[in-house]
Amino acid sequence: MDDPPARYPALARKHLCDAKLFATRNELIGAMRFLRGGVIGEVGVRAGDFSEFLLRTVKPSRFVAFDTFAMHEFTFAFGRPTAKLFGGKTHLEFYRERFSSRGEQVVIEPGWSHAGLARQTDGSFDLVYLDAGRHYEIVKHDIEIAKTKIKEDGILVFASYMMFDHQIDEPLGVVPAVNELVVREEWKVFGFSLQKEMYCNIAVRR
Ligand SMILES: C[S@@+](CC[C@H](N)C(=O)[O-])C[C@H]1O[C@@H](n2cnc3c(N)ncnc32)[C@H](O)[C@@H]1O
Repeated sequence: MDDPPARYPALARKHLCDAKLFATRNELIGAMRFLRGGVIGEVGVRAGDFSEFLLRTVKPSRFVAFDTFAMHEFTFAFGRPTAKLFGGKTHLEFYRERFSSRGEQVVIEPGWSHAGLARQTDGSFDLVYLDAGRHYEIVKHDIEIAKTKIKEDGILVFASYMMFDHQIDEPLGVVPAVNELVVREEWKVFGFSLQKEMYCNIAVRR
């Protein structure tokens, strides 16, 4: 199987009827006022900067952080020394300490995204933000599980809805995987955000 596949469906006007355009992912999430107090997950949290934003903005009753938490094993990540990023702690120690004051509101699921998602209760999430693996097969796998974990009107948001990451010179599989979900299962685009350097986000639901 090619990764990403050479052929995949394009979105059509019917998938966009209520879609809105946002300048940033923060504005996209901020527009989802109906999420307040809900249950949300972030798949791929890095040091927790976006987790902090989601917690502050959505004020969820429960926030689940999924990550392998293995980034400290690399000397550099995203152009920064990981020892500096995590203050000399492991990735997991750093993240756990950062959100320790939030008690049971924040649940941490260390491990592969698909495995962590599979452990969750079906139909229990209002939103899952997917920002972990970006290869086609990984995104497809995450989608297959994440879509069973959201409520009937729940939302999946995908980071890096782009064909190619110019910073790391790598093709991505997010667009083909998301388009297959939307077109084959007749989902709708809730919103699309431009993001600096076109690291676009797309929010979709049934
Ligand atoms: C781009 S960073 C996430 C950034 C974060 N969402 C933010 O906006 O601040 C990707 C994260 O996903 C994690 N990751 C990558 N592939 C993964 C996988 N298959 N399962 C679990 N975590 C993964 C990495 O450890 C890293 O922390």
